[in-house]
Amino acid sequence: MKDFIAGLPKCELHLHIEGTLEPELKFALAERNGLALPYASVEEMRDAYSFDDLPSFLKVYYEGMQVLRTEPDFYDLAMAYLRKAAEQNVRYAEIFFDPQAHTSRGVPFDVVIRGLRRALIDADRQLGVRAQLIMCFLRDFQAEYAMATLLESLPYKEWIVGIGLDSDEKGNPPAKFAAVYERARQEGYLLTMHCDVDQDNSIEHIRQAIEEIGVDRVDHGVNILEDQRLVDLVLARGIGLTCCPISNGYVTDSMKAEGIRKLMELGVRVTINSDDPAYFAGYVAENLAALQDELQLTREELAQLERNAFEITWLPRHLKDAYL
Ligand code: HPA
Ligand code: ZN
Repeated sequence: MKDFIAGLPKCELHLHIEGTLEPELKFALAERNGLALPYASVEEMRDAYSFDDLPSFLKVYYEGMQVLRTEPDFYDLAMAYLRKAAEQNVRYAEIFFDPQAHTSRGVPFDVVIRGLRRALIDADRQLGVRAQLIMCFLRDFQAEYAMATLLESLPYKEWIVGIGLDSDEKGNPPAKFAAVYERARQEGYLLTMHCDVDQDNSIEHIRQAIEEIGVDRVDHGVNILEDQRLVDLVLARGIGLTCCPISNGYVTDSMKAEGIRKLMELGVRVTINSDDPAYFAGYVAENLAALQDELQLTREELAQLERNAFEITWLPRHLKDAYL
């Protein structure tokens, strides 16, 4: 089964590029930028990765990305992920980036996106991995800052396929960003957002995302299972869910494997992704293997998960069909 998973053509749709920053690269970038890290070694850094919920993870995640300063830093970050993706037979990826996590500490938007974009072009040519960028807003910042970031992105619109929403969900419902999402839609961006697993108001947040904002996808979203109306809505609109089993195991009490099984049985377009693989110790192949271990998925079921992913990509129909 391990070989089958390794060989399966894959598609990754829920991947934070800043969450792919491995300790080894962190050390290399710190040295290149003349920065000191509070850890003596890669091992010591990894040992300090202790989190049991979303806020405790986010603290480590934002701390870690401070070493990203220059265009080549963002290029190297994205190239490292895309090399790993190629090794795992990921053929196509839609990659989140968090511009505000960088502009808020003085790194220009232009520096971030140019580095990422250059890596995507090189990976397509050199590695045969195609990828597109999704710009995420940080939901624990004000909506006005998200709107300003959206406007700042417009000159680079051709390089960004859609928008997302991430960071700390508590007290930051989808409706807070209704105007930002409306403007993004007018500008031609496709729409997704995180509805993280087991949040205080998961069901209400998913309802807002689908009914009020009109998202094209939901990131995580497993909690739809608690409300038949949401299941019916997702099925009726063909909305895909980007689930992340190993990540779930870190920030909640379990991988939510049974929930993922149930979603598959209901015919929901559920997909398997790695979220922040440098922190959650597993890229997409390891996520598929972990889920398979728990659920004894058949080859056909594993293949169906990847077909779901290619089907809900934000590629034009003819390019989707080439993968299916
Ligand atoms: N949830 C919310 N914000 C995030 C995540 C996540 O899984 N990963 C990086 N930022
Ligand atoms: Zn995520």
